Amino acid sequence: VRIGILFGGPSAEHEVSCASALGVARALADGGYRVVAIGVTRSGRFRLVPDAALAGFLAGTGADRAIDDRLTVTGPAVELRVGRRRGTALVTSVDAPGAVHAELDVVFPVLHGPYGEDGVVQGLLESLGVPYVGCGILASAVGMDKVAMKRALRAEGVPITPHVSFDGQTYRATEDPEKLVVGLRRPLFVKPARMGSSIGISRVADGDDLATAVEEALRHDNLVVVEQGVTGRELECGVLGGARPQASAVGEVRVSGGWFDYRQKYLGDVDPMVVPAALPDDVTERIRELSVRAFAAIGGWGLARVDFLYDETAGELYVNELNTMPGFTAHSMYPKVWAAAGVGYREIVDRLVALAFA
Ligand code: DAL
Ligand code: MG
Repeated sequence: VRIGILFGGPSAEHEVSCASALGVARALADGGYRVVAIGVTRSGRFRLVPDAALAGFLAGTGADRAIDDRLTVTGPAVELRVGRRRGTALVTSVDAPGAVHAELDVVFPVLHGPYGEDGVVQGLLESLGVPYVGCGILASAVGMDKVAMKRALRAEGVPITPHVSFDGQTYRATEDPEKLVVGLRRPLFVKPARMGSSIGISRVADGDDLATAVEEALRHDNLVVVEQGVTGRELECGVLGGARPQASAVGEVRVSGGWFDYRQKYLGDVDPMVVPAALPDDVTERIRELSVRAFAAIGGWGLARVDFLYDETAGELYVNELNTMPGFTAHSMYPKVWAAAGVGYREIVDRLVALAFA
């Protein structure tokens, strides 16, 4: 099977995607797949990773960042075209029309954030008719948009925290931003509706300025969500499968400073993850059951990581969000919660590829 990996991309999670792609590419190559790596530059151009660079990448030479630059800057410019045979796609040269670099049987978009995780790339792959890993257009779009996601979850009776949403025009037309969040208790979390990796998110406690937080969120998206914070634990669960998806073990992220921000996610030197999380069995089971329900609520396929907030004192669980292409490095939560459930990294990837053809 010839599998195309798309990684990088124009979103603010470009680097995270490069790191995820490294893990996925290695597992696929070890599993006997023929891997064709296609870097998506920050400006959205596709560049084929030359075989020699890919070999070095898989052997682990160089830092992820150096790999990213080499892959996305020096490779030949390519595009994806409809294949000669049904269900395949061609990787063709942009500069030498007609020249075909590779033929793909399936594509794994290891892309995080807007463009790669929100249905845009999924739509491209649908239009080519090539099978691809993970959620389809709708589930990807709903999963990326925190407002649409909350509507889908609420409609299926999945518990979510109190929140409001508004766009930039509404915000600018309001004299007092506090009027937009009436009924919500601080601390508040102010978020761009369509982003990942905690980018653009601020925590607004008593005495903090709401306007500063809203303006920061508006730098990333014209739609803003304000959620009432939950004092408690951050728990995460993996979902894998198609029509009858399964839930993994439950992991915990131990956060400092009130929440799991970008710095703690990627730049810290302590591993904040505890897998499996120390929880009573009934709480673990409830999280696993809610994860599958949340996945079904957005119409998920393939994979997602479902993130929870757990108010231990009140005994309340809330689904904070779903990530339809969760961080996928060897040290990421998604492979860890599956490892704790007895499913290794290579098996996850194998199952995901099989689900792309299902
Ligand atoms: N958006 C990042 C990659 C995650 O959810 O893991
Ligand atoms: Mg996310």
